[in-house]
Amino acid sequence: MQSVETVYQSNFKEGAYEFYENLRKDEPITSIGSSNGNNTWLVTTYDDVLALLKRPSFIKDQSKLFSKSARSEEEPLETKIFHHMMLDVDPPDHTRLRKLVQPGFNPKAIRELAPRIEAVADQLIDEMKQKNSADLIDDFAFPLPIIVISELLGVPTEDRDKFRKWSNSIVSASDNMEGEFMNDVREFTEYLTTLFEKRKADPQDDLISNLIKHEEDGEKLSSDELYSMVFLLIIAGHETTVNLIGNGMLALFEHPDQLELLQHDFSLIEGAIEEALRYYSPVDFSTARWAEEDFEFKGVQLRKGDMVLASISSANRDEKKFENPNQFDITRIPNPHMAFGYGIHFCLGAPLARLEGKIAYQKLLQAFPSIQLAEDPKWRNMFLLRGLQELKVKL
Ligand code: HEM
Repeated sequence: MQSVETVYQSNFKEGAYEFYENLRKDEPITSIGSSNGNNTWLVTTYDDVLALLKRPSFIKDQSKLFSKSARSEEEPLETKIFHHMMLDVDPPDHTRLRKLVQPGFNPKAIRELAPRIEAVADQLIDEMKQKNSADLIDDFAFPLPIIVISELLGVPTEDRDKFRKWSNSIVSASDNMEGEFMNDVREFTEYLTTLFEKRKADPQDDLISNLIKHEEDGEKLSSDELYSMVFLLIIAGHETTVNLIGNGMLALFEHPDQLELLQHDFSLIEGAIEEALRYYSPVDFSTARWAEEDFEFKGVQLRKGDMVLASISSANRDEKKFENPNQFDITRIPNPHMAFGYGIHFCLGAPLARLEGKIAYQKLLQAFPSIQLAEDPKWRNMFLLRGLQELKVKL
């Protein structure tokens, strides 16, 4: 049995793929901890992850299971905000919330954003051209998606450093709902309150103003859900895409033959994005799901209230699903990775992330044809996500 400490040690990302490979072989569904008689399970094979993400009896809403997490009106906004996100609720609430934002994220609506994303990428590249070296995370991979999602929502882009601080703190937090973490969430919610007031007084042509109309209707979106939705979109909309850009560029640097192949034939760009998503999946683990009742899952007896996590990274390197899974191959076809999850919570932002990734790789490689790694990069110490602290390059 693995301990939570093994899974969540500071340099875990370095050895994670070997760790998963052993688990897939020896104990594909393994308990990584327990509390109050309930286990936390980690699921590592492709087939089991798929079965888990498809199965409705793995639920998201803990309040159906544990009385202590029952949701109350008196709860402060900074904890309530985590309970009304569409990623943390089940149908029918999930279906209603997703329907409200889906139209803005469908592939056609996203394609229309291409010229603006290209313009942002060009501007960042022009700034990088003033230097001989750069940190691809700070100078490019972070600002691009945060500017794009901020503009889409209608959040002032000049506040992006505040979001970076808040959302870094939120995605890096473990179970610690205290101290600096809660302070960051509080500041974030206060910021949103002021922004919502401004948009109520003076609506704009943006997603927040549109959501506020639904909130004012009252039937489709409650005030708590409005906060949770915007909070989720800001965090999910950039923390992950930063990692797609950073991790994918790193994979290309580590595989110069693949980098050269792409530089000579940009028609391979879509395959390169899919392979980057598979090879260094930006979201390492799915968010938590809970067993709604006692049942047997793939030979393991689960108890009502057990927590289950899917290792997306492990599924995407499963040798039973992918030929030579540890090889980075931008021409890999088919590539049925699960980097965006599966089932009803499949990533809302997948078309946007793919488009941003495509524009990012293409613009960078065209502007800097001899770009190369300057220093060995370090993985950030986050549990759910895989991303780089910095990616120093010579331009
Ligand atoms: C490379 C970038 C991205 C990756 C790898 C990624 C990955 C994922 C994954 C794995 C899930 C499912 C989690 C689970 O089932 O527990 C998810 C859900 C979600 N993602 Fe993304 N994501 C990315 C970018 C984005 C962007 C740009 C947005 C923009 C708004 C976004 C918004 C969401 C939302 C709202 C959900 C929840 C959907 C639901 O509950 O129905 N993501 N994402």
